[in-house]
Amino acid sequence: MKTIFSGIQPSGTITLGNYIGALKQFVELQNEYNCYFCIVDQHAITVPQDRLELRKNIRSLAALYLAVGIDPNKTTLFVQSEVPAHAQAGWMMQCVSYIGELERMTQFKDKSSGKDAVSASLLTYPPLMAADILLYSTDLVPVGEDQKQHLELTRDLAERFNKKYNDIFTIPDVRIAEVGARIMSLQEPTKKMSKSDPNKKSFIALLDDPKQIEKKIKSSVTDSEGIVKFDKENKPGISNLLSIYSILDGKSIAEIEEMYHGKGYGEFKADLAEVVIKALAPIQEKYYQLVESNELDDILDKGSEKANLVATKMLKKMENAMGLGRKSK
Ligand code: TYM
Repeated sequence: MKTIFSGIQPSGTITLGNYIGALKQFVELQNEYNCYFCIVDQHAITVPQDRLELRKNIRSLAALYLAVGIDPNKTTLFVQSEVPAHAQAGWMMQCVSYIGELERMTQFKDKSSGKDAVSASLLTYPPLMAADILLYSTDLVPVGEDQKQHLELTRDLAERFNKKYNDIFTIPDVRIAEVGARIMSLQEPTKKMSKSDPNKKSFIALLDDPKQIEKKIKSSVTDSEGIVKFDKENKPGISNLLSIYSILDGKSIAEIEEMYHGKGYGEFKADLAEVVIKALAPIQEKYYQLVESNELDDILDKGSEKANLVATKMLKKMENAMGLGRKSK
């Protein structure tokens, strides 16, 4: 079985974008791959976090992984900071990274632009992400479109390390879903839907209640044409809504266009709200059963135990390759 690794930051609410671009893919892949799914709390602290909120979000994200259908008997679900090899390997990967290539990362440019004080870790975030992936000899990394550049860098760093030190890393491939790899903001449909967007109307959170979902979809930005048609260039708002509808309901975009032929956006949006509410209801129900349970702790304890075993082995190989410590491990 080939190995998959992917991670999500526990920074705020998890959105429909995270679900469609990442979580939904994970559930589909868990039967065919040896999967590691991580709650990347060390990545989250690259920007300021409230201590209590962060703890809450870590638990909440773990419960969501399970609520969407991640099966702890088939996968390894764990919290990044509970596996110290990540930070250790992250440091080593920083030592093979160049500042220039890190400064070219668009996520770094976006997150640092206009700020006076930018943490060093915002710049060195990608080598930590590379460490996450490489520690598990990962073959495939399922992510949304926005992570593609980080994955390309991970491959470059792995190849560089293999050439310079010892050929120990598997070079991972990226897997980006064909539809829904980039769910857009409901308010500015040329920008990606993001959990850190200060405008809460721009995203649907997986835990939003039916009223909130209805309101957000109703007030989503479209165009004045009134024709339900997929045209990303000229009608980004309605195209984004069509993608969400199609992915959650299973109908093709063409079928949906046909269904709303001659009808306005009002009816389409009302139906889409129903589709979203119906898709999220079972997830929310399971989430509330799990989030305060001991079962959740047991799963995460087992997950970090297993991840520690695998990651520590690779960490030793890395240390040997670089000559760290007094003797070979
Ligand atoms: P994060 O936490 O921002 O997002 C988690 C996953 O959700 C995807 N995603 C989206 N997909 C479609 N449309 C959107 N609007 C949208 N917004 C987010 C992301 O692409 C991602 O797959 N750096 C990563 C976390 C990470 C990681 C890793 C991922 C750390 N180490 C190792 C893979 C492997 C991040 O910030 O994702």
